[in-house]
Amino acid sequence: MDATQISSELTRVLYTNDQIQARLADIAAEIDEEYRDKDLLLVGVLNGAVMVMADLSRHLTVHLQMDWMAISSYGSGTQSSGVVRILKDLTTDIEGRHVLVVEDIIDTGLTLAYLIQNLHSRKPASLKIMTMFRKPEALSSPVEVSHVGFDLPNEFVVGYGLDYAGRYRNLVDVATLAPHVYS
Ligand code: XMP
Ligand code: MG
Repeated sequence: MDATQISSELTRVLYTNDQIQARLADIAAEIDEEYRDKDLLLVGVLNGAVMVMADLSRHLTVHLQMDWMAISSYGSGTQSSGVVRILKDLTTDIEGRHVLVVEDIIDTGLTLAYLIQNLHSRKPASLKIMTMFRKPEALSSPVEVSHVGFDLPNEFVVGYGLDYAGRYRNLVDVATLAPHVYS
């Protein structure tokens, strides 16, 4: 679905798919440079990062492998608690591997902080993070992010993998959800 099918539940498009692809091409050029002589493992965080992984990986020219983790944050409502449960673990042993985590969005950074600590204990050769979107609160997180697509305002967004109640992941653009939907 695209923005011409925008529903009354969405208020405005923040980034079009063309803008997202252009940004990903730039980031991919940086990653190509960084991992030119390294064996790269992309770790996508399900479900949101499916679109970013699919597009970023196809902009890259270095050899790479992909693996996936599904995690769920304990806690009530929409607030992240930082206590994370692994729903699906990696199938790859990452010891000695150059790992780049591919995320859809970082909000408080609590989920990512847990994930990074967990992955770090598996002794990868290197561990970096790429996220398509970042919310303002993430800037005060101690977790260092190597590549950021776009910084967003503090609004709930959907599309490009991001969902509200499981919907809108297939919107090709990223749009803000109308407050009447979730308040
Ligand atoms: P924290 O706060 O731990 O949580 O960084 C990150 C996770 O929160 C979800 N999230 C969103 N999902 N639109 C979404 O569809 C948003 O605006 C949004 N903000 C946070 C998301 O699952 C992310 O992985
Ligand atoms: Mg996510």
